[in-house]
Amino acid sequence: MSDSFIQAARAAVSQLAPAIAASAKLVDARLNAVLPQPSGRQARVQEAMRYAIIAGGKRLRPFLVLHSARLFGVDDSRSLRVGAAIEALHTYSLVHDDLPCMDDDDLRRGRPTTHIAFDEMTAVLAGDALMTIAFENLADARTHHSADVRCGLIARLAEASGHSGMIGGQIIDMLADKSFGVEDVIDLQRRKTGQLFEFSCEAGPILGQADAETRARLKAYAEDMGVVFQITDDLLDVTSTAEKTGKAVGKDADMGKQTLVTLLGLEGARAEAEKRARCAVEALGPYAAKAPELSALPFFLLDRDA
Ligand code: IPE
Ligand code: IPE
Ligand code: MG
Ligand code: MG
Ligand code: MG
Repeated sequence: MSDSFIQAARAAVSQLAPAIAASAKLVDARLNAVLPQPSGRQARVQEAMRYAIIAGGKRLRPFLVLHSARLFGVDDSRSLRVGAAIEALHTYSLVHDDLPCMDDDDLRRGRPTTHIAFDEMTAVLAGDALMTIAFENLADARTHHSADVRCGLIARLAEASGHSGMIGGQIIDMLADKSFGVEDVIDLQRRKTGQLFEFSCEAGPILGQADAETRARLKAYAEDMGVVFQITDDLLDVTSTAEKTGKAVGKDADMGKQTLVTLLGLEGARAEAEKRARCAVEALGPYAAKAPELSALPFFLLDRDA
């Protein structure tokens, strides 16, 4: 791909923060509608679900769903339901990731983690319920009139979040040791974080019933974009502050984790992320120009400080 596409993608970075904020506003309204209002004897878990998800988070996954869907003329009212579903599932993964038996973190999205604000039992159950509400939303006929499409979304999210996707990445991450090399870390991260990004980008072509080649392009974009995202998450763990990121920093070093930053150094990791950002835009092919928001995102992530 010619460098002009890459230049256009970089140039669009300055417009991305308002575009992400606009999509976050839409998805927040949808989440508010989708999440239960606390009531009855189950109110405590419903309060914890809302606490974990409302008022915080960059909402990157719904942004990807919305823009991948607009490429295929899918109405926002449908894609926002999928955006709310992936944000609920992602939030469940964070609630559980922060538990004492996993990363044991007290701060998330700029405030106490769910198990600190409530208790561990409530946090486990709130995470479980955020996961199931995600699938409930995908199964709803308002998400798509075709049951095949709804089943396609459900099957892809189950795969992406399951034992060889996000959960697979989490167990590999928890058990990883110093013997892990670059390829091992990339494989781990592709599962741990990449798979939910892949789902988010494939959701557009699934909803739009696009052909297999188109879906493969969006998937390839998400794979590289996910690596950029995770390298920058690992860089921020070393270079940023809890005030900026809203979560504890220095955790990877404390836990003795191998990341691309420990393996390649700060400069090497940045260079790898830069290379992957270009690959992501190249993978989009003809869709790079049609979706400037998607093209700009990998470069936006390279510069992020939170
Ligand atoms: C944090 O994801 C967890 C990882 C996958 C590394 P985000 O950085 O997208 O978290 P929020 O949603 O903005 O809080
Ligand atoms: C969490 O990865 C990934 C998932 C929750 C699937 P991390 O443990 O690196 O995320 P942070 O740094 O706590 O956000
Ligand atoms: Mg973790
Ligand atoms: Mg963590
Ligand atoms: Mg991290």
